[in-house]
Amino acid sequence: MPRPPVRPDMTSVHLVLVGLMGSGKSSVGRRVADVLNRPFVDTDHRIEKDRSRTVREIFETEGEEAFRDLETRILGEVLSAPTPSVVATGGGVVLRPGNRRLLHDHRVVWLRASVDTLIARVGPHSSRRPLLDGDARQRLLDLENERRDLYRDVASLVVDVDTLELDDVVDVIVQDARRS
Ligand code: S3P
Repeated sequence: MPRPPVRPDMTSVHLVLVGLMGSGKSSVGRRVADVLNRPFVDTDHRIEKDRSRTVREIFETEGEEAFRDLETRILGEVLSAPTPSVVATGGGVVLRPGNRRLLHDHRVVWLRASVDTLIARVGPHSSRRPLLDGDARQRLLDLENERRDLYRDVASLVVDVDTLELDDVVDVIVQDARRS
């Protein structure tokens, strides 16, 4: 008799952090991975390694679409790895519907931050982040408007990071992961 589809057990899926630039995905992700004793993967670093170029160089020489294609490929590779890991993504990973479909099969945590918090962290001129060239505050406000609903769509947990210390953000995520 055919067996009913099995919903993936949360201990066997990847824990993925999403959110705007400066929300703390990499620093939080590294710590969560340590505590949960899982590997940590940063998709932007994977992309840079794959191309032997920085994200900025890829944007400037190949364009944003090429970067998004790479991001989609790397996301697919990372999420299909069998060992459950903690994954920090780039802020724009939610833009493509195909990426969002992949994310729906995993535990996704949205680190939600106000633009004031983000700008305080990334600074008015972020050399690493081509999408913030020019008026970084205005760019973040626009990105927030464009992406808010997309982050909400993929998130299994939303953590408001504005008033939390890094350790507190890590605790909330770890406790939630251990409950499931
Ligand atoms: C981007 C965010 C960046 C990087 C690229 C595009 C975005 O990652 O992927 O510059 O579209 O928000 P971080 O969110 O880690 O800064």
